[in-house]
Amino acid sequence: MPSIKQVKKQLRVPVAVAGAVSRVFGLAVKSRFGKHRRWPEQQVLIDEPLALAEERTHRLRRIYTNAMRDSWDGHEVFRAAVHKHGGIQLSREKREALAHLMSMLMWGELAAWYVSAELAEQLEDLDARMAASSQVFDEARHFYVLRDYVALLHVPVPPLDPYFQAAVRSLLSAEDLTLKLFAMQVLAEGTAQSIFGFLAESNVEPVLSELLPLIEKDEARHVGLGIMHLPERLAKLEAKECQRIAAHTETIGDMFAATQVRMIPYYRTLDLDPRELFRRADRLLHGLGQKLGNVPGTDQAYFRTIDPASPAYQQNLDFVLPPEGVTPRGGTAWLYRVVELGARAMGARTIAA
Ligand SMILES: [Fe+2]
Ligand SMILES: [Fe+2]
Repeated sequence: MPSIKQVKKQLRVPVAVAGAVSRVFGLAVKSRFGKHRRWPEQQVLIDEPLALAEERTHRLRRIYTNAMRDSWDGHEVFRAAVHKHGGIQLSREKREALAHLMSMLMWGELAAWYVSAELAEQLEDLDARMAASSQVFDEARHFYVLRDYVALLHVPVPPLDPYFQAAVRSLLSAEDLTLKLFAMQVLAEGTAQSIFGFLAESNVEPVLSELLPLIEKDEARHVGLGIMHLPERLAKLEAKECQRIAAHTETIGDMFAATQVRMIPYYRTLDLDPRELFRRADRLLHGLGQKLGNVPGTDQAYFRTIDPASPAYQQNLDFVLPPEGVTPRGGTAWLYRVVELGARAMGARTIAA
């Protein structure tokens, strides 16, 4: 009769095999319920060779190709710009004001990095996924370049505006990719592109002026991904779902607008006219909204913007943002008070007007 030791020795291999089999099956069962349970997705396959398919050059596919062609070395461009202009030569007051604008944009880049990585992983359309993949590199570069720039201002990094923070957190937490494509790729990227263009043209600071045209060009591609891919996703949705996405995006847009209202004193400290920025952003968002048409089941456009070319625009702008030197009164004063009270309720410090 074999001893217990001999039996154990004989069973060692079968027990190890049984253990491995049970672990393999356990993992296999778990993988059927995980985040990637549908991998690999068959829709990424094509019916004909890629080279032939490429003959029909897809506009969306060109975003990836253009991003590779126009890629730039952020560290090198930054170093060269600092060397050329001998650093940032602004007064402390102006550097502090610029820190508010640039740190907001920097945090926006970080959020855009997260969202583009998510889109690169999860969008079903392969061309859109490739465009998002190239955007991940762009946003990473934008983030570290702006982080270096904020450090070069040599002032404390200001706390993030609470409206901006809440809007971005809401966007990042959303599971819906169509909402992300809309609120980040079209609304946020479009707004960012306007701000970058505005700051570049104003020539507010020479080092920044070397960086911004490159960033702005990248941002235009990112808006391109949103505006080219969003309509086909929206077309597949029920009217109610489109209305929900439009309402959520509109609220995020209102929060971005509140942030810009709170930034007015900083633009003015930098001798910039924020009314010009509002006009520029409205023009761009209005144009993008026209491309998207109306929310199904309503007569409302996806973006509630007024065309800067329309006669009503000036009156509207005067209400939201009176010219410099004009004291806000009536509804405008009330609007500013509400925006500031809301910000303080969310923990912000008061901004000196
Ligand atoms: Fe960016
Ligand atoms: Fe971007």
